[in-house]
Amino acid sequence: MKVEGKHYRTIWLNEENDTIINCIDQRFLPHQFVIERLSSLSELIVAIADMHVRGAGLIGAAAGYGMYLAALEAKSNKEPNKYIQEAATRLIASRPTAVNLEWAVNRQLQAMAMVSSIDEKIFVARKTAQLIADEDASYCKRIGEHGVAVIEQISKQKGGEVVNVLTHCNAGWLAFVDFGSATAPIYEAQKRGIKVHVWVDETRPRNQGASLTAWELLQQGVPHTIIADNTGGHLMQHKMVDMVITGADRVTRTGDAANKIGTYLKALAAKDNLIPFYVALPSSSFDWKLRDGIKEIEIEQRNADEVKYITGMCNDELKTVLVTPLKSAAANYGFDVTPARLITGLISERGICKANEKDILNLFPEKAE
Ligand code: MRU
Repeated sequence: MKVEGKHYRTIWLNEENDTIINCIDQRFLPHQFVIERLSSLSELIVAIADMHVRGAGLIGAAAGYGMYLAALEAKSNKEPNKYIQEAATRLIASRPTAVNLEWAVNRQLQAMAMVSSIDEKIFVARKTAQLIADEDASYCKRIGEHGVAVIEQISKQKGGEVVNVLTHCNAGWLAFVDFGSATAPIYEAQKRGIKVHVWVDETRPRNQGASLTAWELLQQGVPHTIIADNTGGHLMQHKMVDMVITGADRVTRTGDAANKIGTYLKALAAKDNLIPFYVALPSSSFDWKLRDGIKEIEIEQRNADEVKYITGMCNDELKTVLVTPLKSAAANYGFDVTPARLITGLISERGICKANEKDILNLFPEKAE
């Protein structure tokens, strides 16, 4: 998508030196647009764990590039295959909830296993990393093309009046390689001249909505309003929300969806107010092994300081301030699970389906057991 009119992806191979990975360092948005250069696997793992790059699709793409860096590093190691295996384990451990991470690492391991020499492995890993990134972008574009039908229908029902979409966290292009999942239908609607306005949940504690979703919508010229996390229910009761679209970090084969903490409460409010609640995801975010999201999806718990401190711009300088009593304990659950029964539909690159195993498998028959 565009930043100040120039097209960027969130992650890409450095044009001058293809042993370096460039990414947008999201810790500084919306205040500073910083491009980070990652030249080792360790740097890339830190970038995932400390959320320089974040969001399910982007974490997957970063892991794909991480395995390429691992293959490059393995060349000077006495036991290259062992080094690659260990790199896979280290990468998978960097963040637990988004399934795209382990999906991308396993895809790289399978691809590299098809060849024997380390030079061939490097070649294959580079190609596969690019493929994962390209696929992520094209799948998100297709999510937009499918999802726009829902916005279009609501727009028609409203006689062309503005469609108000509520979203939580950032499942925009910054959470993927390009286009985004939840935002892709919105960008497609904008392209087709459908009037759309987005309610952006701020998404405490890390404020991905207020800092990232708002920034990217602003860059693309999509009308939007940032709201405190607890506002959605009130807006829904007053018919100020026509639909909700969120992303997902891991979705079971039965349609339970893990997404940023607070998503579940939005789904409950939407259900109570008969507002359609959609989850947009590429197929790489399905965890086909799982059936019960609440019991089986591991929820990341991050450092309590993310709850206690807030970073923002003050007199042209980024500052971090304490907003709680210093000695109070804080808990930082990163995600929650929205049960399938609260989800109106899943929007994937293959189309829209109901959130149940039968309908999901109609779109992905190759995943039938
Ligand atoms: O902790 P993050 O920022 O990596 O969390 C991911 C998210 O932004 C959301 O949960 C998002 O809605 C799904 S990722 C496409």
